[in-house]
Amino acid sequence: MARINDHYLKLSRGYLFPEIARRVAAFTEQHPEAELIRMGIGDVTEPLPEACRVAMMKAVDDQGRHNTFHGYGPAAGYAWLREAIAEHDFKLRGCDIDADEVFISHGCKGDCGHLLDILASGDAAHGGNVVAVTDPVYPVYVDTNVMAGATGPADEHGEYPGLVYLRCTAENGFVPAIPGQKADLIYLCSPNNPTGAVIDRAALKRWVDYANAHGSILLFDAAYESYINDDAGDDIPHSVYEIEGARTCAIEFRSFSKRAGFTGTRCGYTVIPKALVGRDAVGRPVGLHGLWQRHQSTKNSTVSYIVQRGAEAVYTEAGRAQCDGLVRFYMENARLMRAALTAQGFTCFGGEHAPYLWVQTPGGLSSWAFFDRLLAESHIIATPGSGFGRSGEGYFRLSAFNARATVLEAMERLSTLAVA
Ligand SMILES: Cc1ncc(COP(=O)(O)O)c(C=O)c1O
Repeated sequence: MARINDHYLKLSRGYLFPEIARRVAAFTEQHPEAELIRMGIGDVTEPLPEACRVAMMKAVDDQGRHNTFHGYGPAAGYAWLREAIAEHDFKLRGCDIDADEVFISHGCKGDCGHLLDILASGDAAHGGNVVAVTDPVYPVYVDTNVMAGATGPADEHGEYPGLVYLRCTAENGFVPAIPGQKADLIYLCSPNNPTGAVIDRAALKRWVDYANAHGSILLFDAAYESYINDDAGDDIPHSVYEIEGARTCAIEFRSFSKRAGFTGTRCGYTVIPKALVGRDAVGRPVGLHGLWQRHQSTKNSTVSYIVQRGAEAVYTEAGRAQCDGLVRFYMENARLMRAALTAQGFTCFGGEHAPYLWVQTPGGLSSWAFFDRLLAESHIIATPGSGFGRSGEGYFRLSAFNARATVLEAMERLSTLAVA
């Protein structure tokens, strides 16, 4: 028999969402009449912006004619999309990022995992990197590192020896503090899934300085950057490259999923500056940009011409206005949810620069106990905070990705729930 990748066997329990699905299925079997409201999984509900849809339909027509047909595209994506991204997402914000440092992909989740291919595999004791993740965390960062062999098997809390956990709690505003020890790779996500917290300019500058001082790489996930409310008066960078020094220490992941409703259409990108270097086995510096270019041309056929044309339309005047409209719609949901929950006595975080609310369970209930109660009494499905890590215990996450009528109905149902 062929040998498998044993590291997969270290993955603790199922992914959070299968367990939610199991409990929901058990409940509906007992209560088939219950009308459930799903406020758990963070998937968008509004259709694609018109500008993107029209651009994709035109691109379909292009593919139907000899003179406009496109076969395999460039491995890193079409220049016209990379240029639009560099201009609008970076240069207009004062970030020194060139089009050829932008790599188009099928989305941020895949890139988070694939990126580990160009970094040393194995744990730190065997030449690998020390990896730091926040707790709570978007589980993909952890599981992809487990698969790549960066850790030992999970302990009784579901945590992996070999990872450095940066605890994010109400006391530190859910913003990770610089660790006492050296970490080679540090995952930062701002605005954050699941807590909705954001890292302000001063805190991000501290991370950039730390990374440059230690030769670390920041893996900055900005999938929700379009949800930052610039009018709120907080100083929140949309990109890590707004911070001086980030070109030599940071990779940024971006996605059209939540910004333009592309969760099912699939497109995102990763930025790897040419100034970013790692070291080889004997300590010589090697540029990561060249390695990723090689990775993409060998392992990745780029996103379809049609979808890249759809993503390009995000940067047109109409596209920008329609995407802003989507964000405003979801953030109004978040505002309504936060107001209703707070009025009812819940302690709520997030929902101001992110489409997620991070809410304390009432009466000190565990996350899963409250999940069961919410399901049984209100027929609402939330996401238990403990599924995102130990520090998520005692919290639940609500997503603002929903139709307005559904949000209002959910808040109505919650208003009859006793909060101890
Ligand atoms: C923090 C974070 N990063 C990345 C992703 C995935 O993005 P994409 O749809 O581009 O793969 C998600 C999706 O929920 C997310 O929450």
